[in-house]
Amino acid sequence: MRNSSRSNVDPFIVMDVMESARQAEESGRQIIHMEVGQPSTGAPQAARNAVADALENNSLGYTVALGLPALRQRIAKLYGEWYDVDLNPERVVVTPGSSGAFLLSFTALFDSGDRVGIGAPGYPSYRQILKALGLTPVDIETAAENRLQPVPTDLSGLDLAGLMVASPNNPTGTMLDHAAMGDLIAATQDQGAAFISDEIYHGLEYEAKAVTALELTDDCYVINSFSKFFSMTGWRAGWMVVPEDHVRVIERLAQNMFICAPHVSQVAALAALDCQDEMRENLAVYARNRQLMMEGLPKAGFDKIAPPDGAFYIYADVSNLTTDSRRLAAEILDGAGVAVTPGLDFDPLRGATTLRFSYARSTEDITEGLSRLTAFMAARG
Ligand SMILES: Cc1ncc(COP(=O)(O)O)c(C=O)c1O
Repeated sequence: MRNSSRSNVDPFIVMDVMESARQAEESGRQIIHMEVGQPSTGAPQAARNAVADALENNSLGYTVALGLPALRQRIAKLYGEWYDVDLNPERVVVTPGSSGAFLLSFTALFDSGDRVGIGAPGYPSYRQILKALGLTPVDIETAAENRLQPVPTDLSGLDLAGLMVASPNNPTGTMLDHAAMGDLIAATQDQGAAFISDEIYHGLEYEAKAVTALELTDDCYVINSFSKFFSMTGWRAGWMVVPEDHVRVIERLAQNMFICAPHVSQVAALAALDCQDEMRENLAVYARNRQLMMEGLPKAGFDKIAPPDGAFYIYADVSNLTTDSRRLAAEILDGAGVAVTPGLDFDPLRGATTLRFSYARSTEDITEGLSRLTAFMAARG
């Protein structure tokens, strides 16, 4: 059977690492997982209780395409709580994860062939989803002195229809502060391009609070999710905030593409929004892990790292150790029993000399992982 050329997207390399780790575990080895980008904790207790109740008392049929009205209202209230932003709930769209929001936003904003800027290093699926929709991803090679985030001068001459940013970013954990975000929004809008802000790691911040693009403009798309701060990756619940005059466009697309986000997950999400204290206990674990990683990785020999502002990743420049991050990651898995992600997922060019370490797991795992990495690197010489 024939295939379309736009379906020819790249695999997610981290999935291959996870598969190698699984095989090693099957053969009896105990692997420390520093490759995965998800919490090891589950959904908050009240979310699970709400789901148990809904399974008994709710037929859980389709919801309206934009999401349960109570959930949209509660998400709007979150913007007041977190950022002091007064948000009209009508602008909130509940989506099947932020991944569903990417499909909706890219389809709503761009025409075939349009050029959309994405920072490198960055989350790999932006590039692949853009390609699969017949759009043109434009990699912006960010600079270390800009903490690997795009800056306005990077945009000149790119002829973009849109710019996608993530703050905190995956894989670097770096954030855009108020001024940096404002400058980027202005530069994007000056080109007549759409500004999309992926805010999935908001709530997971260690020094300063993350800035939402909605503090600076209403003329943008903001994408967020219950996957990370709310520890609900598998539930596939996310949301998007769009300008008022885009809601109907998104509604029509959502009706046709998904009908709705999973109803049961929307029930869980609504309850989760009132469990922020429980979620902050997870954050305290990540903060401790971050500290251990910042101290332990340089001692092990991974000393070209920048302190992450948020999320649960550290991105290391390993150009002094390898020109093939895939091979180094395989050696580390084999020799140390620690799974890490080669940077090639995040930056097709420079990722051959970088690795991403995730510290989303338990502190016990992080301590053990660091001691294995130290021993492995000492033996490697
Ligand atoms: C920056 C970023 N955006 C989006 C996603 C996708 O998340 P979701 O589970 O909400 O689809 C991820 C997942 O790791 C991510 O790192």
